[in-house]
Amino acid sequence: DTILVLNGPNLNLLGKRQPEIYGRETLADVEALCRETATGFGLAVECRQSNAEHVLIDAIQEFRVGSAGIVINAGAYTHTSVAILDALNACEVPVIECHISNVHRREAFRHHSYISLAATAVLAGFGTHGYALAIRHLAHLRAGKTA
Ligand code: DQA
Repeated sequence: DTILVLNGPNLNLLGKRQPEIYGRETLADVEALCRETATGFGLAVECRQSNAEHVLIDAIQEFRVGSAGIVINAGAYTHTSVAILDALNACEVPVIECHISNVHRREAFRHHSYISLAATAVLAGFGTHGYALAIRHLAHLRAGKTA
C-alpha cells in the first residue's frame, strides 16, 4: 500500500526559502521523514514535487483509486487552484492537506483553501512534522479507524 506525498510550487526550495517561516529542513529531509514514518506503519510512500499545476493533477489522478491516500501541500496553488480541487474531488482515497506554516496567522489571502473543500483533514503550523502526522493518520484510517 502506497501513500502519495505531493508537494507543489517552491517546496523544492525548502530549507533555503524563508527559513524563518518554513524551517531549515530540505525537501529531501522531509521525504526521508515520510519514508521512515510510512515504513513504521508497513506502508510505502511515493514522493513527488512539481512547480507545475498539471503535473500535480496528473499525480493525483495516478493515485486517486487504490492507494493508501494522498498527503498534499499544494503551496500557493492551495489558494488559487480549482483544477487541483476538481482532481482531489475525483479521489476515492483519503486526502490530507498539509501546510508547514500556520496559514491562518499569515496574510488574509492564505486563509482560504480550495484544497480544504476536498480534504479529509487539514494540518497547518506543525512544521515539517505535519507530514509525519498526516502519514500516521492515513495509517490509522487504513486500519479501519474513524476516530
Ligand atoms: C504553504 C503555505 C502557502 O500559503 C504557501 O504558498 C506555500 C507553503 C505551507 O506549507 O505553509 O508555498 O503551503
